[in-house]
Amino acid sequence: MTPAFSYRYACVRCAAPQPWGEIRYRCLECGQNLRIQRQVDADSPSAADIVSTFHGRGLWRYGALLPVEARWASRLAVGGTPLVDCGDGGGVRLWVKDEARNPSGSIKDRATDVVLAFARRAGCRHSVTASTGNAGASLACIAASHGMSATVVVPASTPFAKLAQIRAYGAKVCEVDGSYDGAFDIAERMADDARVCCRNTGINPFTREGKKTCAFEIAEALDWRVPDWVIVPTGDGNMLSGIAAGFLDLHALGITSAVPRLLAAQADSSNSITRDWRACDDAMALPESPTLVSPDTVADSLSVGRPRDHFAALHALRATRGACVALSDARIMAASRDLAQHFGLWFEPSTAVGYAALGECLATGRIQPRSRVVLIGTGSGLKSLPRFDSAAPGHLRDSANAVPRRMPGEPGYEQSEAQP
Ligand SMILES: Cc1ncc(COP(=O)(O)O)c(C=O)c1O
Ligand SMILES: [Zn+2]
Repeated sequence: MTPAFSYRYACVRCAAPQPWGEIRYRCLECGQNLRIQRQVDADSPSAADIVSTFHGRGLWRYGALLPVEARWASRLAVGGTPLVDCGDGGGVRLWVKDEARNPSGSIKDRATDVVLAFARRAGCRHSVTASTGNAGASLACIAASHGMSATVVVPASTPFAKLAQIRAYGAKVCEVDGSYDGAFDIAERMADDARVCCRNTGINPFTREGKKTCAFEIAEALDWRVPDWVIVPTGDGNMLSGIAAGFLDLHALGITSAVPRLLAAQADSSNSITRDWRACDDAMALPESPTLVSPDTVADSLSVGRPRDHFAALHALRATRGACVALSDARIMAASRDLAQHFGLWFEPSTAVGYAALGECLATGRIQPRSRVVLIGTGSGLKSLPRFDSAAPGHLRDSANAVPRRMPGEPGYEQSEAQP
């Protein structure tokens, strides 16, 4: 499908326009991240015309709102994930957007599919990214489907399952001694030196475009009646800024009549955006650089000392009248078990932080009872097996949690249930 609009880049902070065409990563004036701006004029299609173009399943259903043509996309089934109705959970009407159903098991595939479509269109055959694991697994997966090569720079602390996934798809892995923040700078330099596509979250503006489609799907599944709150697990802040941009787009185009409030959920030790949001809540100006923190959390995907889409994330909170909370590892692990055991949804701790945030906001009154709430289920529990075992030792082998070897009513049922 041919895009219905023309586009240009604009700085997320100083708004300086930058020419469209090739991939750009930073504002030429101030060095901040760029966003992709849709040009709307009198000849632009109406809301009804745009909605009438939405065909097919998956994120390219919204091709009319994406800045690259669907014919460059991978053949994998990215997006089109279920919005699971969890009923009246804990005093609110709750839905969970099950992003673990994406090809590599996380929401990152939405960003990667759009990034690589644009890279392919530009003739690029190789791509590099820094990752705490999921972005790398996603790049490796979707690059493989295009016959492209990929290099993933990861911190040494990356969970085994995510490393195994990256390697299985045939990508080259560079493990760095330091943190994700160090890996980010190394990956950016590698891509720059080799003049190949850099998928690093935030600085590649197409990452945000892909994540917008998660908002489009939520709104459409609810018949364009947006929820009161959308809860977004947050590390670098790109998911937050992307999902906010999606809802703001729908509203600006007249497809929806409101914008949901976004709740950013962070881990206690990786709470840079929470701190900066609280500091600037009433101030006019957003801080230009993030407060640096030293992350050490079971929510490894959120383990970010210096969020790379910080400014856009704070802007997203302001534009959606949002809020931010940070939770302890103990509460994150408890929330993970609750999600799995109450709803049959097993996500990695970096998703469960959002469910813990819902509990916190209901307790403090920030979220009102009976609100309509969507939690973004960002990544599968299978990606973080060792985290479950180390944060709650024995839990995975606990006899109380073991599946009985015989079914109730069968001879020997009680004995087998009691065995370790
Ligand atoms: C499973 C999962 N949830 C949440 C996030 C947070 O996204 P962001 O870093 O854009 O804030 C990530 C990022 O890696 C992730 O992998
Ligand atoms: Zn700028």
